Amino acid sequence: MSVQLNTQENATLSLLLSREAIAARVKELAIQISRDYAGKDLLLVGVLKGAFVFLADLMRALEIPVQVDFVRLASYGAGATSAGQVRVLLDMAASIAGRHVLIVEDILDSGLTLGFLLERLRARQPASLKLCVLLNKHIRRVYEISPDYTGFVVPEGFVVGYGIDYAERYRHLPAIYILSLATSNA
Ligand code: IMP
Ligand code: MG
Repeated sequence: MSVQLNTQENATLSLLLSREAIAARVKELAIQISRDYAGKDLLLVGVLKGAFVFLADLMRALEIPVQVDFVRLASYGAGATSAGQVRVLLDMAASIAGRHVLIVEDILDSGLTLGFLLERLRARQPASLKLCVLLNKHIRRVYEISPDYTGFVVPEGFVVGYGIDYAERYRHLPAIYILSLATSNA
């Protein structure tokens, strides 16, 4: 089967995780989360934009009722390198005091983004605060953070698809790919 990738001329995408592999793992995570939060009032906090596809699939696979909110953070600029600083572009509307909060994020890389968010949300005194990441690039960790739920541990390399972008491209792809940009000197 071939996929129309519509890439930039000098970009190559190699499949890392198929849509079937992602769907199977999301289902497993959902079963585990449903069990752990049974009888509790759970608020999922998605980190925009990268986590929106994962969050949408995950919440629909859960067997417990949940509420959803979003934050939008920026730690990377338009490219593939970290700006080394986190900014809040959109904060949650509702209070989280006394609530069970599960942060849902696409990628844990250096830990800078989630370290910042965890600290910020912990200060608002939720009943519990846990972390669910689809992809864990543990090799690159600078701030020590261990997710409570991990979809996949992935190797170093820039990934795109399933909500995850490179300069706002490739979010629409249903699978996850490693992106290589050819350094052209021609
Ligand atoms: P951290 O702050 O270094 O942990 O970076 C985490 C954030 O950087 C993630 O939420 C992603 O939005 C982004 N990021 C990290 N690695 C990648 C990647 O391979 N592709 C796209 N975005 C990435
Ligand atoms: Mg992100």
